[in-house]
Amino acid sequence: MKVVLLISLVHLLLAISTPCTNANEPVRDTKGELVRPGTKYYVMSAIRGFYGGGVRRGPTYNANSGVCNSDYCCPYEVVQSLDDEDKGMPIILEGAVSKVDPITESTNLTVRFSIRNPLICNNTVWKVEKGEISFLSTNGNPSKADAWFQIKRNNEFSYKFVDSASNSPVGITLYNGERRLVLDTNEIFQAVFIKDTRDGINSII
Ligand SMILES: *[C@@H]1O[C@H](CO)[C@@H](O)[C@H](O)[C@H]1NC(C)=O
Ligand SMILES: *[C@@H]1O[C@H](CO)[C@@H](O)[C@H](O)[C@H]1NC(C)=O
Repeated sequence: MKVVLLISLVHLLLAISTPCTNANEPVRDTKGELVRPGTKYYVMSAIRGFYGGGVRRGPTYNANSGVCNSDYCCPYEVVQSLDDEDKGMPIILEGAVSKVDPITESTNLTVRFSIRNPLICNNTVWKVEKGEISFLSTNGNPSKADAWFQIKRNNEFSYKFVDSASNSPVGITLYNGERRLVLDTNEIFQAVFIKDTRDGINSII
């Protein structure tokens, strides 16, 4: 009798402690398939029809004002495309500390844009630029902790990126006409992963 009671108690505890964020739970793409390292995925908003475009390296248009004009400076912002039909630029996930396959929740990961032959602008690794507004950039070094993110379940339909160091979720803020990824708890970026099935057709900008 005691044994039976103990077992049901364990089951009850397990049932209670298995909600949203579950470390080591595999991350899945929109088809329900395991997300794997070294594979290209588009990161898109789970909410379509309202600025639902994918994530890419920006700027998506040239503001033509600052010192860093995209004609002579590598784009380095992580932005969500304003175009709902634009899937953005594929990303590649890897375990930051050790190899992870498949990609699991609450694991330190690096995120980089997949850009073919990045001879000139090879800055592709996501990084948290700590500041009053902590924007994400593509100037990361995969061995530094400010380039480490975790993926956690946001709700039944979406995931969120979280800065490993501060545990702050990645949100989106409208800044100078761009939808930039930023550490922000107000508007969490509700992300889904769509596998890039094309082969060899990659952005070169
Ligand atoms: C990017 O290019 C620079 C200059 O050619 C080089 O020093 C650096 O190692 C490259 N970085 C990566 C990540 O390929
Ligand atoms: C993940 O990264 C954070 C921030 O650097 C660190 O505090 C934590 O210990 C890391 N976790 C693992 C499992 O490596």
